[in-house]
Amino acid sequence: MKEFKDKVAVITGAGSGIGFALAERCAKEDMKIVLADIDARFLRSAKRKMKKKGANSISVLTDVSKASDVELLAKKTLEAYGAVHLLVNNAGIGGTKYTWDYTQKDWEWQLGVCLWGVIHGVRIFTPIMLKQDVECHIVNVSSMEGLIKGSGPGGAVYGVSKHGSISLSETLHTDLEIKKSKLKVSVACPGFVSTRIFLGDIHRPEEFQNPPDTQFEDTRGMDYFANFGLTMEDVLKETSLMSSEEAADIIFQGIREEKLYILTHKDSLMKRLVQERFDKILEEFEK
Ligand SMILES: NC(=O)c1ccc[n+]([C@@H]2O[C@H](COP(=O)([O-])OP(=O)(O)OC[C@H]3O[C@@H](n4cnc5c(N)ncnc54)[C@H](O)[C@@H]3O)[C@@H](O)[C@H]2O)c1
Repeated sequence: MKEFKDKVAVITGAGSGIGFALAERCAKEDMKIVLADIDARFLRSAKRKMKKKGANSISVLTDVSKASDVELLAKKTLEAYGAVHLLVNNAGIGGTKYTWDYTQKDWEWQLGVCLWGVIHGVRIFTPIMLKQDVECHIVNVSSMEGLIKGSGPGGAVYGVSKHGSISLSETLHTDLEIKKSKLKVSVACPGFVSTRIFLGDIHRPEEFQNPPDTQFEDTRGMDYFANFGLTMEDVLKETSLMSSEEAADIIFQGIREEKLYILTHKDSLMKRLVQERFDKILEEFEK
């Protein structure tokens, strides 16, 4: 996408972190912005900040894991602005447990948000954007974790969702190329960004709560990178904890350049982790 002024951007998880920073970035380009989030408080605060900046925005309370909510989001967008040009499927949540400790409710809730949220966004908005037949763009926010070998503890559900959203983006990219479409797609794969995602289960709805006596080994505070033979100290020598604004700038530039993969952290650590995964796979071809 090259022209942004007066175009309509829909951003999920826009109440906080990377989503809100992207909304601010879109406001800088004089876009009309639809802020979607499950958290009414975050949404009110985001809307207030947008108003202060003089941005043209609406907010829609949305749980991206629910198809009916995402359908309503599309309907409200079209009612307010008559079109949608940029969709950012950004809403996401984290988690840290050993693979075997995730319960059925954990899987359903986290995949509901991080994978089904992206699927609903793509399924519902793509036909609308194709029908418009003008320059449009979809960005699915995945993670570096979608490109590297799953690392524990914590990566199981998140990793499945993030690898899944990369696969969905790649297939959509191929399909759009076959059709020579004016709609483009990117998948953003951030490294560490300083946001609220590390606060845990604050948005888990009642229906997905585990019984209070659910047993699992507490892995909080465990060194995530120990699996790769690295301490947190080593990690921070090679990569950075980026601000949401910086990540949003890189993602926005990626949209402008219509990149398939948008990498926020092009540092030696992330490169090595990606390389290690692909080398291991390629090695098998030589055996
Ligand atoms: N922060 C990082 O280091 C990092 C790294 C890689 C990828 N990501 C990805 O970036 C995206 C944004 O995360 P962030 O780091 O800005 O976190 P964040 O917690 O600051 O923002 C996530 C937003 O999503 C909203 N949300 C949660 N569940 C939702 C639901 N069911 N429906 C709608 N909105 C919902 C939250 O209310 C919040 O406003 C996520 O997809 C995350 O996986 C983050």
